[in-house]
Amino acid sequence: MSDWKNLLLHGDCLDVIRDLQDILKGKVRLIYIDPPFLSGTDYTLKTRSISTRRSAGELQEEQTYSDKWEGGLDEYLAFMKTRLRAMKPLLRTDGSLWVHLDWHVSHYVKVMLDEIFGYSNFVNEIVWKRTNSPKPQSRGFGSQHDVILLYALDESKFKTNQMYRGHDDKSRKPYSYRDERGCFRLIEIEAQGIQRTEKRKQFEWRGRTAPYLYRRETLDKWWDSGLIYTSKNGRFTKKQYLSDVPGIPVSDIWTDIPPVQGTSAEHTGFLTQKPEALIQRIIESSTEPDDIVADFFVGSGTTAIVAERLNRRWVASDLSEAAIKVTRERLGQIQSSQK
Ligand SMILES: C[S@@+](CC[C@H](N)C(=O)[O-])C[C@H]1O[C@@H](n2cnc3c(N)ncnc32)[C@H](O)[C@@H]1O
Repeated sequence: MSDWKNLLLHGDCLDVIRDLQDILKGKVRLIYIDPPFLSGTDYTLKTRSISTRRSAGELQEEQTYSDKWEGGLDEYLAFMKTRLRAMKPLLRTDGSLWVHLDWHVSHYVKVMLDEIFGYSNFVNEIVWKRTNSPKPQSRGFGSQHDVILLYALDESKFKTNQMYRGHDDKSRKPYSYRDERGCFRLIEIEAQGIQRTEKRKQFEWRGRTAPYLYRRETLDKWWDSGLIYTSKNGRFTKKQYLSDVPGIPVSDIWTDIPPVQGTSAEHTGFLTQKPEALIQRIIESSTEPDDIVADFFVGSGTTAIVAERLNRRWVASDLSEAAIKVTRERLGQIQSSQK
């Protein structure tokens, strides 16, 4: 198996990972997994036969996987522990593991990952708002979010690409000034509030003496580029144009990615399918083209699809035949659209 590019494998991920140790050890840049959550549910794949004008098409439902555990939490945690331990050696020194869970077990798996990866390699707990309409509850509150735990193999070597989300009305609001280059907001260049200590040096620049936050050469450069705004009373601030700001930096709370809806083009009928935009953000933030991305619980194939589209190499597996079938179909669709 020396000349492989991408791999889709059917089977228990523990066997898959063990079989791949030789070729993948220390080579995988990103592992994203969305394993069972101990939800107590049997999941299915719902597909509809082709509809015509006379018939809406028949709905077919086939079992994909069961997330019911006879041995309860202990059995589930033992299942996860062996698999998470087996995955770790596959990672590159600058690689990372992202584990998608929800309220059922995320706290238990967090503690387990602290043991396996080391507490100091824990990078983030990302909250993904997965629905806008939580179900009403007679006790407590309806859950609206999933959790993604991010661990670096070695936090000192792990880097991410800063991700941005599009501007919204709230983030556009401060850009209320306008000139021939477009909308801009004003940024202070003089020390304010607690920064304005007696020790801070003041100097004279273009007729105004103030505790400037930047060196004279920097201020001159901004002046020459037309980036300094002079108010009526002679105070200087810096213009920041909306078009120069790539968007709002993404934090650990992700509220801008909707779940896969029945009407959306990517919908497959696989009940726990995750949105491509979610996986795209993860892959783009933590890998570069040609890096290897792995998902050992690939379900409907979302990670493989997105990795393929972003020119990453990928390795995917699943225990369910139905999952492998859907993943193959989705990959086939990408390949035929690329021809
Ligand atoms: C939550 S789903 C993944 C959904 C996927 N992220 C997507 O976007 O479609 C979990 C998947 O794990 C698979 N699975 C469960 N146990 C497994 C095991 N031991 N090895 C490999 N896959 C397994 C299930 O068949 C299911 O497809």
